[in-house]
Amino acid sequence: MTNTTNDHAGHQTWGGRFSESPDARVAAFTESVSFDARLAAHDIRGSIAHARMLSNVGVLTDDEFTQIEAGLNAIGARIAAGDFSWDPALEDVHMNIEARLTDDIGALGKKLHTGRSRNDQIATDIRLWLRDAIDALITELERLRTALIGVAEREADTIMPGFTHMQVAQPVTFGHHMLAWEAMLARDTERLRDIRKRVNRLPLGAAALAGTTFPIDREMVADELGFDSVIDNSLDAVSDRDFAIEFVSAASLVMTHLSRHSEELILWMSPAFGFIDLPDRYCTGSSIMPQKKNPDVAELVRGKTARVNGHLVSLITLMKGQPLAYNRDNQEDKEPIFDVVDTVTNSVALYADMMPHVTVHADVCREAARQGFSTATDLADYLVRQGVAFRDAHEIVGKSVQHAIGAGCDLADLDLATLRGFSEAIGEDVYEVLTLEGSVAARNHIGGTAPAQVRAAAARARAALA
Ligand code: ARG
Repeated sequence: MTNTTNDHAGHQTWGGRFSESPDARVAAFTESVSFDARLAAHDIRGSIAHARMLSNVGVLTDDEFTQIEAGLNAIGARIAAGDFSWDPALEDVHMNIEARLTDDIGALGKKLHTGRSRNDQIATDIRLWLRDAIDALITELERLRTALIGVAEREADTIMPGFTHMQVAQPVTFGHHMLAWEAMLARDTERLRDIRKRVNRLPLGAAALAGTTFPIDREMVADELGFDSVIDNSLDAVSDRDFAIEFVSAASLVMTHLSRHSEELILWMSPAFGFIDLPDRYCTGSSIMPQKKNPDVAELVRGKTARVNGHLVSLITLMKGQPLAYNRDNQEDKEPIFDVVDTVTNSVALYADMMPHVTVHADVCREAARQGFSTATDLADYLVRQGVAFRDAHEIVGKSVQHAIGAGCDLADLDLATLRGFSEAIGEDVYEVLTLEGSVAARNHIGGTAPAQVRAAAARARAALA
């Protein structure tokens, strides 16, 4: 027996060849409106551009376009006001909006879908949405970079130990350390700008997969929607999600940078280090240990990096087995993309808020640098300037450090006679290079840790942001 009345909501747009409604579990399994409703504003924008183009090429009349545009704008306003009820039986954001348009303006609403498919429609929606998300993320990244540059300027003279292998290596300035993080985020920004170019191409016009028989003007739609170009091949346009994978990969790198930064903030705030403090409002307490103040924001940023990396694996795995062209698998791209955007944008925004308020305990940082023989390389370089070969100088300084460890003091605490016992080349002026201030000031070239260079680098970083 054939059901010809077609009164099931789920049949409204594609039910013609079906004789029964989807099984309830199938309907729940296949619906996407519970998450893709988030694309509504972009979906409406795309539909208006499509309808305007259809009227321009004579597929719709001007009057039909005007009514469709007004109807879509009214629906957009209701969605924005939270005054729209989404129906899971209508599957997705596209059909919910189209069905409502037809309810509102009558049979004319059914003409909107002429010459397009949900396949090119969804690809267009995601690209429009992601383009905005990238712009918002770049804004937050620039805010965080500005914050880091501010801390760098404030702490340009603050001496701390620089580490390799987590062992005290050479003294650096706190400002220099901050600018290292800024440099990573500057590359992240650059990467996102580059990816945005490939996101910003129009799939609409590909229709289901092969293009359409209507005389469409894709360039016009691209122009109206602010796309840089149209995607040439219709099969490619509806099927590939490489632009999203690129974005999530860049987001994963942003999180990796923030996660490393977090790891340092967590260590530095531990009383065992005591280099920094964060305001109470960016920390939380323990329900059992009354004394605790935990850097939970930093720990969660480090933790949330895991889910972003997980989404990256989801998306590349989602693509790998798909033959051309569109497959429903692609519906699974939305939740990872949304969650990545939310996670990375929130993490960067929180860090942008928090970082200007980091308190640096300069005395503790300085003492940690002083205790670790961090100027040993400076002594070796000094000997080289006196004519000693570097490998011999390395050996001489090694012996001096061994002696200082035995004596329980630092290199700068050894008297001249003792030092000269290791090398006759050592003179009274050696103490200038053994000081922490002398050590950092001497690294006075582009990229070096000298306070003067930190100020110059901060100025360059500010100029790059302007
Ligand atoms: N919801 C789908 C997606 O997210 C778009 C609709 C395409 N569906 C279809 N049956 N062709 O990719």
